[in-house]
Amino acid sequence: MSPIPKGGTVAVTGAAGFIGGWVVRQLLDEGYRVRACVRDANDESRTAFLTAMPGFVSGRLTLHSADLDHEGCFDAIFKGCHGVAHVSHVSNYTDMDYVSRVCGHIIKSVDNSSSVTRVVVTSSTAAVISEADIYELVRRPVCNEDRYPDEMSPKRKAERPGQGYSMGKVLAQNMFADAAAESGGTWEAVTCCPGDNVGPILSAHQQLGAWQQHIKKMLEGEYMQNAAYRPWMTVDVRDTAEQHVRMLENGEIGNGERYIAWSTETRDVEDVCASISRLLPELDFDEPEVTDPFPDHIKAREGELRSIWQGLDLRNDRARSILGMEFIPLDVSIRDCVESLLTVGGVQIKRSRS
Ligand SMILES: NC(=O)c1ccc[n+]([C@@H]2O[C@H](COP(=O)([O-])OP(=O)(O)OC[C@H]3O[C@@H](n4cnc5c(N)ncnc54)[C@H](OP(=O)(O)O)[C@@H]3O)[C@@H](O)[C@H]2O)c1
Repeated sequence: MSPIPKGGTVAVTGAAGFIGGWVVRQLLDEGYRVRACVRDANDESRTAFLTAMPGFVSGRLTLHSADLDHEGCFDAIFKGCHGVAHVSHVSNYTDMDYVSRVCGHIIKSVDNSSSVTRVVVTSSTAAVISEADIYELVRRPVCNEDRYPDEMSPKRKAERPGQGYSMGKVLAQNMFADAAAESGGTWEAVTCCPGDNVGPILSAHQQLGAWQQHIKKMLEGEYMQNAAYRPWMTVDVRDTAEQHVRMLENGEIGNGERYIAWSTETRDVEDVCASISRLLPELDFDEPEVTDPFPDHIKAREGELRSIWQGLDLRNDRARSILGMEFIPLDVSIRDCVESLLTVGGVQIKRSRS
């Protein structure tokens, strides 16, 4: 049996964001009622794409202002909802007390709702692979749901780049699962861990998101090497959204489980850039060289770092077999991202002939 009724009501936090926007759209497409939670419902630069959705006109989609930094702000919104997709970022990933506090705010509102039965928490593959010591990836190269970053590493400190984000995501997953267990089965929490999201933006402000911003910079004529020469480990944003909906609906999965969302395709940043001309030769795109900002001691390790990443075994068996997911090829995600950056985002491309 589905944990939430088909056509029921789902609250989405971070609804104006890249992933949240697609989760809203997917839920509407599948017949749900959606309460889209944004920080400022009056900020049209971030919400006009939501109010332009047909479901808003009919009333199936409503917009609500809520900042998770404020305790109780989701109380009224979650009341009467069957599900919650907690997609939003938090304001600070370097302070675990803060992360714990704001997770507590959402959990309390879920408890107070007396109606929510399933919460999907949006985590990240950073909660799977983000190691403070990169050699841990050599020791444990299989990247599936059972893999966690080495919490015992003395270098795993919230203030180190990337580590706070990864630690905050693991903390959120555990807090939600523990709170759901304490609810005595009233509600359950499952966690989605997406890889690097690529795909079409729905609103111009979303062009500043992590991976689409790289593509925007490529189009504009200058882009950077990725940290530690890490290849992109991608998922189409539409697949991430679909996986969230399947995780809300699936009655076979249970509290505390997590599901990675990635296609297992990987591509170096230079090859992502080269894909643009290959996929869209009509653009007459003037393909820039990558800028490598790393200091010499990191540059000297380029070959070794690339081979560590190549040695990883990315797995998505659980999402495929239990949720029935199939993943969009990266070429399609890149093509659709580029076309949306040009149309929705108003990005000006550097062309060979200009
Ligand atoms: N993009 C990726 O490749 C990727 C990969 C793995 C995991 N994720 C995870 O997926 C989630 C969404 O990412 P995204 O790429 O869609 O990010 P995004 O486009 O930046 O959207 C995140 C949203 O979070 C909301 N937010 C931030 N602080 C908030 C607060 N204090 N209270 C309420 N809302 C707050 C913002 O809301 P407003 O717009 O209303 O201000 C924003 O729209 C995040 O949890 C992220 O960690 C993303």
